[in-house]
Amino acid sequence: MNSPVQIKYDGAVAVVQIDNPPVNALSQSVRAGIVAAVEQTDTNTDIRAIILICNGSTFMAGADVKEFGKPPVPPLLPDVITALEAAQKPWIAAIHGTALGGGLEVALGCHYRIAANSTKFGLPEVNLGLIPGAGGTVRLPRLVPMAEAFSMTTSGKPISAAEAHSIGLVDMISDGDLLRDALSFAETIIDQPKPDALSARQVKNPFSDDEIQAQLKTVSSKARGQLSPKIAAETLIANQSLDAEAGLALERDNFLRLKDDPQSEALRYIFFAERSVSKIGSIKNTVANPVEKVGIIGGGTMGAGIAASCLLAGLNVTMIERDAASLAAGVKRVETILQSSMKRGLISQAQYDTFNSNLSGNTQFEELSDADFVIEAVFEDMAVKKDVFAKLDAAVKPDAILASNTSYLDMNELAAATAHPERVIGLHFFSPAHIMKLVEVIRTDQVSDIALATSMAFAKKLRKLAVPAGVCDGFIGNRIMSAYRRAAEYMLEDGALPHEIDAAMKSYGFAMGLFEMQDLAGLDIGYAMRRRKDATRDPHERYVDIADKIYNMGRSGRKTGAGFYRYEDGKTPRHDPEIDALIIGESERKEIDRKPMSHDEIMAGIIGAMAQEGRDILNENIAASPQSIDVVMVNGYGFPRWRGGPMYQAEQNA
Ligand code: NAI
Repeated sequence: MNSPVQIKYDGAVAVVQIDNPPVNALSQSVRAGIVAAVEQTDTNTDIRAIILICNGSTFMAGADVKEFGKPPVPPLLPDVITALEAAQKPWIAAIHGTALGGGLEVALGCHYRIAANSTKFGLPEVNLGLIPGAGGTVRLPRLVPMAEAFSMTTSGKPISAAEAHSIGLVDMISDGDLLRDALSFAETIIDQPKPDALSARQVKNPFSDDEIQAQLKTVSSKARGQLSPKIAAETLIANQSLDAEAGLALERDNFLRLKDDPQSEALRYIFFAERSVSKIGSIKNTVANPVEKVGIIGGGTMGAGIAASCLLAGLNVTMIERDAASLAAGVKRVETILQSSMKRGLISQAQYDTFNSNLSGNTQFEELSDADFVIEAVFEDMAVKKDVFAKLDAAVKPDAILASNTSYLDMNELAAATAHPERVIGLHFFSPAHIMKLVEVIRTDQVSDIALATSMAFAKKLRKLAVPAGVCDGFIGNRIMSAYRRAAEYMLEDGALPHEIDAAMKSYGFAMGLFEMQDLAGLDIGYAMRRRKDATRDPHERYVDIADKIYNMGRSGRKTGAGFYRYEDGKTPRHDPEIDALIIGESERKEIDRKPMSHDEIMAGIIGAMAQEGRDILNENIAASPQSIDVVMVNGYGFPRWRGGPMYQAEQNA
């Protein structure tokens, strides 16, 4: 078999070319090939500089996931990088696509780095519960200022080529032919002394003691119980006062410790789950309809967010509202989102102008006659939605797909009310829709393969994580949320208070507690939903009316200054003894003997309720796999990623 590492000669410059599709992962054959190339070029007296470059769409994108969990075969990556650093001639990494994790560490072993202007650089190991394992924590802070190295390593977030250039991570940006630019660059350095290897340098702009304390505090509060960002921070800080050799040994120890930690296992599980749940075997060979023009019905919170999401993906959007004033408000909402994306540096002024000009609005459904895909996001009311779908039926072309963003309503009933139920589907986005990655794709009973395939492709185009789900009240996520909310409400009557349940959830790793979240969403929403279900509720079922009573006190949550909590400054939840008294009064009224609950007992109840509902959902074929449920709960409901998800947790504790 040919080695994936080939050497070509161009005068005094050797070009070491990696070709290991699809992402030039650092497989054993690549690692061995690089070490062999160092040996060959060291001994070839004609060669004075070496360019390390990759074929295909990207530089080395990191470790080979196929080798995960197998015994490592030498040469190991740290040794490859040490060999590069120790090479007698200067090595120039010529980088395009992404240089993440091991890929970036290889680039740090080289003596110079040049990059195509679209390259992304990052050390994402913390996202898999790890820290860099091949010298990243030692070499990066010796090349770029400590603050930048610290932020990249502890957040796992990638940076752009322009940022990488401004902090000194790359020496030159290439706007054209990368290899040609690398060859020209080689000419400029060939007569210069080879720069010191990074591990022979000092840490750049190390943190002061005060900075160390402040940084550790920030990382720890953001990590919410996740270990790897904290260990990454501690490793980098320790490296400030260690020489490179001791730093590499410390990094290795910490890496190995994390690798076997349950958090890393859970993070690896959810990483692979996210890559598998969008695959639907039955439509493998179905060709999706092209989607260029999208119709959005309703320009409220969700409609505006979905419209922005479509525009940011380069699509044309026509928004339909019920009257001119609502339309103007809807269009304004979309513009505000685009403006904030521009302010945050996510899009340029030119992109903003283009996206804005791709948005049009109208009050007449006829405007959608050429739309390929329509998403309805009007009020959560079956009659209103049926009326909208009847109008859509008459207005759109025969192959247009019609989607609803309903949170709970029966998508089969809505589809059956149209002339072509086979083209009706649910697309349940999460708020804010232009930011949240998750979309539940609701498969109606009669949906056609082409409507399903087009919806999945459309979600992918919006860079969303699409999880197929069946029709039921609340689909996967909201149904599980209703179940654990019910469990938490029973706990209120049985002995726990809202702030205790919220504290337990936050110390478990949730960003927000259940009651803070309900206050944020507005208690009117849950109230209206419960009234919708009054008629069908089993009168013998235990029903907790604490939330109804709070709502009836005029406390609709944060927006009215009070709900389960009081909000004196409009945003900070304050524990309210008046609510405690109300809850304790309810227990007395129902003659329930209240018993205090520990955090562990509270969380056992909550995770247990989630997992039980999850099992029902699987039995009813609403979700295709436990992974689908975990992906939904982690990406849509704040379940701590490093715990894998409720189904994963239940399995671990079984
Ligand atoms: P909203 O009240 O903010 O917006 C609804 C919009 O629809 C309003 O601007 C209204 O003028 C417009 N509208 C009403 N009837 C119309 C008609 N016949 N023709 C054209 N426009 C009409 O509501 P929101 O929060 O955006 O929710 C919309 C849908 O999305 C609901 O089905 C809701 O359950 C669902 N959803 C909401 C989420 C949320 O967090 N708010 C999350 C996921 C789904």
